[in-house]
Amino acid sequence: MTNRIPLIAGNWKMNLDHMQAIALIQKLCWTLNDADHDYRAVEVAVFPPFTDLRSAQTLIDAEKFEIALGAQDISRHDSGAFTGEVSGAFLAKLACKFVLIGHSERRQCHSENNEVVQAKVAAAWKHGLVPIICVGETLEELETQGQSAVPVAQTIAALSGHETFGEFVIAYEPVWAIGTGKVATPQEAEDVSKAIRKAITEHFGAESGQSRILYGGSVKANNVAGFLASGEVDGVLVGGASLDAEEFAGISRFQKHIVL
Ligand code: 13P
Repeated sequence: MTNRIPLIAGNWKMNLDHMQAIALIQKLCWTLNDADHDYRAVEVAVFPPFTDLRSAQTLIDAEKFEIALGAQDISRHDSGAFTGEVSGAFLAKLACKFVLIGHSERRQCHSENNEVVQAKVAAAWKHGLVPIICVGETLEELETQGQSAVPVAQTIAALSGHETFGEFVIAYEPVWAIGTGKVATPQEAEDVSKAIRKAITEHFGAESGQSRILYGGSVKANNVAGFLASGEVDGVLVGGASLDAEEFAGISRFQKHIVL
């Protein structure tokens, strides 16, 4: 058993405008509150597009909802002539707790390499945000390098070379399982999670080794419990299924499927 609090994180990607965001967050929180969800036992967070964050923050604050808010990206810079970028300072002002960094869609479509990811992790810590560092291999990398090589290497690169260290979360998302309906098996997620934890502990010490490691890739209410049953995987990062309040609430209530 561990003391790590499971984290259920919903990455909305480029979906839902700010009005739709309000409706989804209301429905999600009402559903969870009706079910007496204990947010201290299972943390729930949503990651809307940047343009939704202010509305989401205002709603969460006004209604005293207990879900956490996060952003999908952060600039490595604090401020200045960086058209289109969003500073961690602005995210912190909007009460964001988390920020996703190095999602495979950003690595693939925006050429984010390990160096960029590492700089963004530093920016998150500088502004008091918890980075959720996304790692994962493509199908080709899986076939040529095996199961854990790429996610472990990406994790070490993101966390290396920092003068100061803060809280972080790792999200293992095999690229071949994102949005494809192809899910890693619970055993695969557990094995990679173990390999990442071992590497973090060796490189950065026992305390860092207690960080939460999530699985992501085609997670649904009907398969989430399998990933979280062993205690090696500390939560999930959910894409498509986080756009449906009832489905995401069902994922957040995964414990009802696990016989303890
Ligand atoms: P899906 O759950 O839609 O496969 O997306 C996973 C993901 O990329 C979450 O960040």
